[in-house]
Amino acid sequence: MTKEQAIELLESRGQGHVMRGFDNLSEAQKESFLAQIDNINWADFELIGNDSASARGEFAVPPAIELSEIAARKDEFEAAGLEAIKKGEVGAILLAGGMGTRLGFDLPKGCYNVGQTHDLYIFECLINNLLEVVKKADAFVPLYIMTSEKNDKATRDFFAEHDYFGYNSEYVKFFIQDMACAVDYDGKLLLEEEGRLATSPNGNGGWYASLLKAGLKSDIQARGVKWLNVFAVDNVLQRIADPLFVGATILGNYVSGSKVVRKVEPAEKMGLLCLEDGKPGIVEYYEMSKEMSEARAADGSLLYKYGVILNYLFSVEKLDEIVDNNMVVHIVEKKIPYVDAAGNKVSPTEPNGYKFELLVLDMIHMMDNNLAFEVDRNYEFAPIKNLHGVDSVDSARELLEKNGVVL
Ligand code: UTP
Repeated sequence: MTKEQAIELLESRGQGHVMRGFDNLSEAQKESFLAQIDNINWADFELIGNDSASARGEFAVPPAIELSEIAARKDEFEAAGLEAIKKGEVGAILLAGGMGTRLGFDLPKGCYNVGQTHDLYIFECLINNLLEVVKKADAFVPLYIMTSEKNDKATRDFFAEHDYFGYNSEYVKFFIQDMACAVDYDGKLLLEEEGRLATSPNGNGGWYASLLKAGLKSDIQARGVKWLNVFAVDNVLQRIADPLFVGATILGNYVSGSKVVRKVEPAEKMGLLCLEDGKPGIVEYYEMSKEMSEARAADGSLLYKYGVILNYLFSVEKLDEIVDNNMVVHIVEKKIPYVDAAGNKVSPTEPNGYKFELLVLDMIHMMDNNLAFEVDRNYEFAPIKNLHGVDSVDSARELLEKNGVVL
């Protein structure tokens, strides 16, 4: 794209302001800025001011395996899961491309040290959990780590400096997710600096497309990986490539599975796994009617009670089928650092605009079926979003200690 083409395009969209200072840029900066402009997904802009949630379908309770059944069928599930892991059929995807703004930590979130008497990093907690499975299966689980262009180098360096926390580095591959531009509340593009659009990672829903773009399909094929277990960086207690979860999903002939924790209070803020028009779907707490959140089953327990914890298992075959389907784009309010018209850098303390994101939970709705696999939140759910309070470093430390982890 030439400068003239960029000006014409931007002006036709009411975005001419981003070209200010263009003539002062170096040739290389000009080229990369024009490439950024060329890559803008203008369709996303139609969401601004039209953010009404799309109509939802008819909800029903999804197929689930609860704790009591898991305990009763433990040996059967574990054997099936371990067999798949031993054959190299199970890979893990660590979603670590997020900005972790709520934690307010400069390095990638996984580099945060939750230890108190010794170093214990979030990445290390996750690798320790995965190593338990590796030991049991006597086989390494291929681990694919999604980063963003903002934190890729820092993440790779951190793993290298810490010798992959004892993991076999031949089984670890990194890939970078896509970025999306950010706008203010009037839909005007923000600049990170003159000659550079403010961009941020495009959400956690584009991970499979980004993995393919990075050329990692050949690695998946060469290793014979048939299942991918996707998980978030911030839950330090989660079990990754859990043989029981893998085994239950395979034996039930499902194409996907979700680890869920039980919701006990109608007002609890969690996304719930449901069936929506007969297909698996996740309903956010703010999308749910009072009637739905309070509905009770015959035994008096909540009817919709399977809270998702961002730990999903997908069949690779199914992922290949859906990867080219359009995904819903979500518009999210965020704090976006930018330079103002006078060239001053601004770091907002309150949200000041929108980012456009794809979400992994929408992939669940693209699956033919999905198993809700219940886990005990005291053993498997300690997310770190904030420094203090709910879902924080403090609450995660407490849960880690309860689970015997020395901090
Ligand atoms: P969060 O929803 O907590 O988002 O991500 P975040 O950006 O990390 O944190 P805040 O909202 O700014 O505080 C849930 C999981 O999805 C990953 C995160 O790294 C985390 O594992 N994620 C999120 C990505 O990999 N890419 C993204 O673009 C967004």
